[in-house]
Amino acid sequence: MKAAVLTEQGKISINENYPAPVPDEGEILVKVAACGVCHTDLHYIDHGVPTFKKPPVILGHEAAGIVASEGKFFKEGDRVLLPPVFTCGKCRFCLSERENICRNMVMLGNSIDGAFAEFIKVPEKDVIAMPDEIPLEDGCIIADAISTPYHAVINRAKVKPYERVIVFGCGGVGINVVQIAALAGAEVIACDIDDKKLELAKELKAALTVNPAKVDLKDFLKQNVGAVDIAFEVIGKPETVEAAFKTLGKAGRLCVVGYTNRDITINPAKIMFFEQEIFGSIGCRPADFPKILDLVKDKKINLDKLIANKYGLDYINTAFDELRESKVLRNIILPGKKV
Ligand code: APR
Repeated sequence: MKAAVLTEQGKISINENYPAPVPDEGEILVKVAACGVCHTDLHYIDHGVPTFKKPPVILGHEAAGIVASEGKFFKEGDRVLLPPVFTCGKCRFCLSERENICRNMVMLGNSIDGAFAEFIKVPEKDVIAMPDEIPLEDGCIIADAISTPYHAVINRAKVKPYERVIVFGCGGVGINVVQIAALAGAEVIACDIDDKKLELAKELKAALTVNPAKVDLKDFLKQNVGAVDIAFEVIGKPETVEAAFKTLGKAGRLCVVGYTNRDITINPAKIMFFEQEIFGSIGCRPADFPKILDLVKDKKINLDKLIANKYGLDYINTAFDELRESKVLRNIILPGKKV
């Protein structure tokens, strides 16, 4: 089959004859309709983050497609969404409804081959039926770009109506933290150094926007908002984690969604005096996907404004370049498309 393969650090090559996957017991074959191009893929390509499966490995973990082999619950032709992570269902985190931090998690396009390919095999128990109302091409981004922000906003930060929320980074993930926090009833301040992202944040119901490259963030908050209740860091830089923490007031919560493995410096006095909290958020729990699909179906979560370009596999490096240069929020790869 045709696949875009990470052959070595920094290099994605098209292979027309990559071995097609053969499903094992409990797995089904899925013909990939679409797979989102995510910043996490860039971490593997550009930033030295190793994949668990050593190259050659097919990246891509944000996929939707059509079932291509008969399963126990799904039949050929069924439309499905694939979660990015498969769980063991047995460890103490799975048993306490925290499957997203499963001890034995297997991630598409990292631990095993992902979806920048014509076909993929996946454990059937984890596959989600895609409602007819949601197109596979646009709906694929629900797998991560929507589900990760949902978990961060709803389960981890537990955003409540009228809370003041600031979102640092309104890229592919952060923009959806903005729209889901606004949906939860919060007053959302979108913070990004790219004015185009801030315009979109406004369209997705941010109450205020701020570009810290142009105005002093501390002054802006002092004049317009005061201290915030919840700060989300959705960039992955030590300096923005620190800046996000500094925006918090009493009982403030900092939710770290962006990835960096560099150290941060935070003075703990405020954490103690103000009973503040710092916590992380990763992925999403299986139980939340049906709720998210309902929100998309009901147009409460907007997909239309998020997707920029759709490319065939041959143009995957263009799709990555555009993300790398911050020109787009989400590009989509359509393995069945020729151009
Ligand atoms: N201050 C404010 N915004 C910034 C700054 C800064 N100093 N530096 C970068 N940004 C903005 C960019 O302009 C961009 O809009 O952060 C955004 C990052 O978005 P993307 O590059 O699209 O990244 P995204 O896919 O959203 O992922 C963000 O979350 O899940 C993790 O691994 C992922 O670490 C990554 C992070």
